Amino acid sequence: MATLQLNQIVKRFDDTQIIKGVDLEVNDREFVVFVGPSGCGKSTLLRMIAGLESATSGDILIDGQRINDVGPADRGLAMVFQSYALYPHMTVEDNMGFSLRLAGVPKAERREKVREAARILQLEPLLDRKPKALSGGQRQRVAIGRAIVRNPSIFLFDEPLSNLDAALRVQMRIELARLHEELDATMIYVTHDQIEAMTMADKIVVLQGGVVEQVGSPMELYHHPRNRFVAGFIGSPKMNFLEVGVDHANSEGVRVRLPGGESCAIPVDGSDLATGSTLELGIRPEHLMLDDQGPMEGEIQVIERLGGVTSLYVRMGESMVTVTADGDVAHRVHDKVRFGFEPQRAHLFDSEGLALPTLHRHPLAGLNRQDNRAPSAANGQ
Ligand SMILES: Nc1ncnc2c1ncn2[C@@H]1O[C@H](COP(=O)(O)OP(=O)(O)O)[C@@H](O)[C@H]1O
Ligand SMILES: [Mg+2]
Repeated sequence: MATLQLNQIVKRFDDTQIIKGVDLEVNDREFVVFVGPSGCGKSTLLRMIAGLESATSGDILIDGQRINDVGPADRGLAMVFQSYALYPHMTVEDNMGFSLRLAGVPKAERREKVREAARILQLEPLLDRKPKALSGGQRQRVAIGRAIVRNPSIFLFDEPLSNLDAALRVQMRIELARLHEELDATMIYVTHDQIEAMTMADKIVVLQGGVVEQVGSPMELYHHPRNRFVAGFIGSPKMNFLEVGVDHANSEGVRVRLPGGESCAIPVDGSDLATGSTLELGIRPEHLMLDDQGPMEGEIQVIERLGGVTSLYVRMGESMVTVTADGDVAHRVHDKVRFGFEPQRAHLFDSEGLALPTLHRHPLAGLNRQDNRAPSAANGQ
């Protein structure tokens, strides 16, 4: 059982403020993912939680106790890094049990804990091997095993899958989700990869430039991004952004003028908008639909066939938009196509990049990964 709370955490290196006042609540047994572009401060934040870096100001609380002045070894946390840092001359068993040996845990107990971790990670047949005789994925599992044997109250992961190839990353992602379910532990996971965040998190924390842009479930961030940054960062291929003029706006909707001249009413709160102002319309590629009667028209520049779906890159005047079409779509480059979208799928962003509030919540917006579980698993054993 472990909760974590960050209150107004600031980190300065020399004169540069890297973390700019972060507040966060991590609930017991939650899988929380910090995601953001390289350099936004994810590792720094995680290292402050681990105690490897001190906070310039603010409070870090575990289970309600302030731990800023507690040393890393006494915080009850275990961290797994991108580089596995296994001892090459030790077997898997000795690598996994090393921290227990340092802590003076008797041999029999050590052995039992290592065997249990090996069972969970399916490493039992490999316990006598040295790291050089393991694949990348197996080495990363040993690094995770080293954390498990310590029975930490919170697991901290810093981009643990970044060194693995794409197929193995997908497999390890599934294993980590399964591990979270089996251990029922609180986990904080750092990645720059929004797909890892979407697939593993109960709660995603989107960071940019040392600031939290939004906290929410994956589907919350996907359907209700608070600003243009989150809208563009979450989802693949990226959301399309088009400049549009406001024809008419009130609390029940905003009528915008699309590129090409047609108008369209978007169900967002436009109470504070002036007619004639300019907004950005955001629509995800998967929400643009080819339609001969659609309000927008463009010319296909590039076609990417992925098998199940096809990405069409369509030029509309000055802008390019991505349209996700059916895998078997028959179009060719230079074809003119018309397309449209359901107005409730569209987002509008003001000149500061803030999303205008949508008038209805998406029914799945509150869903998190635990809601996907079978009732028996959610109730524990
Ligand atoms: N020890 C340090 N001294 C000075 N600057 C640092 C130090 N550690 C990290 N930084 C800077 O802090 C910023 C955030 O780094 P980091 O937390 O590693 O980002 P991320 O993990 O999101 O890629 C970067 O600009 C980095 O250069
Ligand atoms: Mg990092």
